[in-house]
Amino acid sequence: MKKQIIFLSVTFLVFGYSPVFANNSDKAQCPQKRTTPAAPAKYLELKNPLEVTAKRLKKGELLYLKKAQPIQCVHCHGARGDGTGELGLQANPPARNFTCTATMKNVSDGQMFWAIKNGIEGTAMPAYSDFADWQIWVLIHYVRQFGK
Ligand code: HEC
Repeated sequence: MKKQIIFLSVTFLVFGYSPVFANNSDKAQCPQKRTTPAAPAKYLELKNPLEVTAKRLKKGELLYLKKAQPIQCVHCHGARGDGTGELGLQANPPARNFTCTATMKNVSDGQMFWAIKNGIEGTAMPAYSDFADWQIWVLIHYVRQFGK
């Protein structure tokens, strides 16, 4: 019995950490590795000028699930905000897991504003350059509530 347990543990260690299996999870990762470049300083200074209200969260939800063009956030970031949308997990790097406070606490309002407006070059994150500022700010409120 003891030998079997040792054998199983060793097998798990070897295969569990093998790069072949890395990046092949259908689960949200947390903490999530984040290599996103920092937004330019003029964005980093920005603070969300809109107070959170139920009405604004609803508007954010509508954009996230249905209205955002060319493609809605939900397809990558998922209905639960954990990055498990059908296009989110296969993306490399994978879509951000908004439920992961350990990672999201390092992502400021201004950083998010920049990422949504301009997209993140070299990743699947698209630019939403047609959004009005208020649309981006209500989306940021909506994204933040996933971590609460
Ligand atoms: C086609 C897939 C896709 C769609 C659609 C998408 N995203 Fe993303 N998003 C990503 C990926 C991939 C990343 C991670 C990029 C990285 O690691 O640098 C990301 C990262 C982010 C980040 C984190 C930025 C940072 O600095 O960490 C925010 C905020 C974000 N997305 C918001 C949104 C919002 C809001 C929408 C909808 C308006 C949206 N995304 C739509 C794929 C997507």
